[in-house]
Amino acid sequence: MLTRARREVAFWGSVVAVSGLVFVACGGSTDPASDSSTSIRATSTTLAATSTTIAEDLDMTAKDFVNINSMTPVKGFFIDNRLGHLDDAIAVAENPDGGVYPVGTIIQLVPQEAMVKRSPGWNPETNDWEFFFLDVSAAGTTIVTRGAEETVNRFGGNCASCHAAADPKFDFVCEGTHGCEPLPIGDDVIASIQAADPRPMP
Ligand code: HEC
Repeated sequence: MLTRARREVAFWGSVVAVSGLVFVACGGSTDPASDSSTSIRATSTTLAATSTTIAEDLDMTAKDFVNINSMTPVKGFFIDNRLGHLDDAIAVAENPDGGVYPVGTIIQLVPQEAMVKRSPGWNPETNDWEFFFLDVSAAGTTIVTRGAEETVNRFGGNCASCHAAADPKFDFVCEGTHGCEPLPIGDDVIASIQAADPRPMP
């Protein structure tokens, strides 16, 4: 009992202390107590500075993948960016000179395969792309395999080694003309696989 009482005193004591500081801060007092309001501001500045130094990243879970037809279509594939850089990502896709896709970019040609741009330095050998082989159904998405250089598709083809053949200025994106070994299926088959994504539209 005594311990709990002490804790309560300590708790309410700190609330009173904080309210006092806030009051002083709001009052704009110029007496010596205004040092306290300065220290409040100094503290919040430090917190803000800390949060901006955390590198942006996108670590996908199965439920973060959606029906590809709800993503933005560009040049025959679908693109999204979950960190607010969609316009930059589309600009890279549409630039005839290529470019580096921003962190947080998701690109899919078919529902079962995805490449996701991780934080800078995540895996330099794949330009920080993480490759996914997915299982999709009306119930949603299951991640079958994910990784940098280890992910293979349903034909046993290694994602990274095929995509690494793209001209470096296109940041591992093959399209039909960037120098990768072609897929064993034609555009008409790709279009029907895209249209048949079984997952619900949001
Ligand atoms: C045989 C080589 C090969 C393999 C293996 C391969 N891809 Fe591709 N991928 C391609 C080609 C070529 C295209 C472009 C197809 C087109 O637009 O006609 C492509 C397209 C894509 C696209 C659309 C963006 C782009 O690069 O054009 C994504 C995303 C993608 N593949 C992801 C993957 C993932 C994930 C894997 C592994 C699970 C994988 N690919 C395995 C060759 C390959």
